[in-house]
Amino acid sequence: MYPATRTTNFNQSMIREMTRLAMQHDAINLSQGFPDFDPPEQIVNAAVEAVRGTANQYTVTWGYPPLRQALAEQYSVQLGWPVDPDVHICVVCGVTEGITTTLLALLNPGDELLILEPGHENFRPSALLADAEAVPVVLEAPDYRIDADRLEAAVSPRTRALLLNTPHNPTGRVFDSREMMALTEFLNRHDLILITDEIYDRILYDGREHVSPGSLDGLIERTVTVGGLGKSFAVTGWRLGYVIAREPLSSAIRAVHDYSTICAPTPLQAAAAVALGQPSDYWQQMREEYGERRQLMLEMLETAGFCAVRPEGSYYTMADYTAIDAPQAEWDSHRFARWLTTDVGVACVAGINFYTKDRERYGEGTVRFAFAKRLETLHEAGRRLATVGS
Ligand SMILES: Cc1ncc(COP(=O)(O)O)c(C=O)c1O
Repeated sequence: MYPATRTTNFNQSMIREMTRLAMQHDAINLSQGFPDFDPPEQIVNAAVEAVRGTANQYTVTWGYPPLRQALAEQYSVQLGWPVDPDVHICVVCGVTEGITTTLLALLNPGDELLILEPGHENFRPSALLADAEAVPVVLEAPDYRIDADRLEAAVSPRTRALLLNTPHNPTGRVFDSREMMALTEFLNRHDLILITDEIYDRILYDGREHVSPGSLDGLIERTVTVGGLGKSFAVTGWRLGYVIAREPLSSAIRAVHDYSTICAPTPLQAAAAVALGQPSDYWQQMREEYGERRQLMLEMLETAGFCAVRPEGSYYTMADYTAIDAPQAEWDSHRFARWLTTDVGVACVAGINFYTKDRERYGEGTVRFAFAKRLETLHEAGRRLATVGS
């Protein structure tokens, strides 16, 4: 007996592996990006009410109608074109399903998908599941900017699409208008589809505002926008996301979603419709709280001797550990991340894990920390990190 070859080209998730290691060693888990605080009470209550009520059966495959309506209202503004809830939206089981479904729907076997690296570790396996090839385009530390020459060097006659994540995991970049203009020109010149992962679209710092790439001139027709509720409402376990695209892409995405999952969980979709109606102070408060967490995380890392990138959005920072005052500063990033987890009690992820191309050159010497945690959790992590080098 043997598995399909498409499953043999990727290993199990290193981030989830670090979570297991953190649990074994009672380490504070700053490896996987999920909050240790509760979702807003009103949303939890809405989910309970939905389960107690009538929202317990399959819903329409592309999503519970009030949720699609709420998304259509939000995204008609955010994308600047009239998003029709009955045509352009597909509610899915998390952004992860959204991306895999989109790739299955839009890529043919052998097509190439450009992926920016460092990048979220799920992207490449999603491409491989669609029998497509993931072609990395490096963003280089410490600025992690999109480089037009590198894009150009990566493109081939088989290139069909580019996957962009902004605000970005793991660097915290929010790609700016200059980068987006160059990208738009590139995508148009090569007639490529743009798939955007905007799961962190509500988590930005220093007054930045999220601009959905699918709202930009030249990108409206060719962009598939993928978003989710897990991060914005601290409900990563609810597995809720959505895909928004124009026709004919939308119909293909809906069909793949139908045959892979039928629908996302109905009662949670009902609660999500309530969640999207949060007043603007909810978002304001959330940003302020994330701003505090970011500040604390950066201070802790600096005290411990790390040199960390100041994120512009999302809740991660890539930190260079090569100048810490400890022999472990010489170690490779896998060994360093495991040591920090098992011996120091703070779990993180090796930088090399976010690259597939020239991994040693670009990924070594760094680790990623996720700071979507209560301040008290971060303070305890800071106390532990302060022992590094002593
Ligand atoms: C960039 C990015 N996309 C997608 C996901 C996963 O999203 P979901 O939980 O909605 O599947 C993550 C989770 O960390 C992420 O960082």
